[in-house]
Amino acid sequence: MAEPSSSPRVLVLGATSLVGSHFVVYGGSGPVLVAGRQDPRRRGFPVEGFTRVDLGDEEAVRKLVRTTEATAVVNFVARTDVDGCESERPRRGDRPAHPDRGSAWVLNSELPRWLAEESASRDLFLLHLSTDFVFDGKAGPYSEEEPPSPLGPGLGWYGYTKGVGESPVAGLARKGKAAIVRISYPYRSGFEGKLDLARGLLMRLASGTLLPMYTDQEITPTWVPDVTDTLSALLVARRGGIYHVASPTVTTPYGFAEALIEEIGVGKGDLTGARLQDVQDPHRAPRPLHGGLRLHNVRRLGVRPTDYREGIRKLVAELGATPRRAGFPASPP
Ligand SMILES: NC(=O)c1ccc[n+]([C@@H]2O[C@H](COP(=O)([O-])OP(=O)(O)OC[C@H]3O[C@@H](n4cnc5c(N)ncnc54)[C@H](OP(=O)(O)O)[C@@H]3O)[C@@H](O)[C@H]2O)c1
Repeated sequence: MAEPSSSPRVLVLGATSLVGSHFVVYGGSGPVLVAGRQDPRRRGFPVEGFTRVDLGDEEAVRKLVRTTEATAVVNFVARTDVDGCESERPRRGDRPAHPDRGSAWVLNSELPRWLAEESASRDLFLLHLSTDFVFDGKAGPYSEEEPPSPLGPGLGWYGYTKGVGESPVAGLARKGKAAIVRISYPYRSGFEGKLDLARGLLMRLASGTLLPMYTDQEITPTWVPDVTDTLSALLVARRGGIYHVASPTVTTPYGFAEALIEEIGVGKGDLTGARLQDVQDPHRAPRPLHGGLRLHNVRRLGVRPTDYREGIRKLVAELGATPRRAGFPASPP
């Protein structure tokens, strides 16, 4: 087995993602190679090499991992559009008959299995990102030991496919050869792509289009730099297992919005509440009601998880948010 190294060469999949792009730019674990559809060097990301691959193509993924010069693989790739995933839920059974390469089944369930099999055959260390949505929200926040929920009406197709994808990685994690890092509602500054919970709120505040926020949904939002720190620590120590990275205190979307509004110093005038339990939209995926993550293992890595109120303070400071400009800069800092 390879010895822990202070600077492993890492193959990153999903370098353009909300979470992965932070790791690629700020992670301190060693040189980074990237594979995917877009060359991140065009955005000025500090990467050593790029291989263009459709990561929904099994043969291409297996070949990539078999031939990489990296000693570790970090997988941020997923189909993350929760309601889009729900539209792929099979009417019968627990897997689709003919899933396409961009489907939740292929990207969230199959890709992690290909990576686990190929990484194991070459003794590469595998890090895989997952979510509190693998739990159905009946009894959160959830600890690292709890298994993903079975498919049922309370669990969305996104969460189910992510739970299926965890299984082969968990097998390696038990042997110390892989780690699963679960996160919950990640938020950060300095990202040009999709909006997260915090920047979505800031944009809606600025445009006066704030939606009612759930007062009964329990969440533990993840400050993305904590994920980067956790992954870097795991890579350097080559330490396997399951790690939850999230706010150590639970909040609700309403509570998060309230704290954000307070931090930027605008009135709470437009903020209204709604109950997730009252929402019955058959086109939307179910959200875990009592969701969120309980943290234990991450502290052993020396990472101090950021409370959501502290994360909001950092975010607002980084964005330079003001009451006048409700924190949504034209270009990221
Ligand atoms: N966002 C959340 O609320 C959330 C919450 C909990 C956990 N997570 C987990 O955290 C991880 C990262 O999530 P994220 O929100 O940061 O992801 P994201 O921003 O939605 O990005 C998804 C990534 O997957 C890549 N990808 C998708 N299909 C691909 C294909 N066929 N070939 C190559 N690349 C492909 C995308 O590349 P392109 O740029 O080429 O499209 C992109 O880099 C995932 O495991 C997710 O399940 C996310």
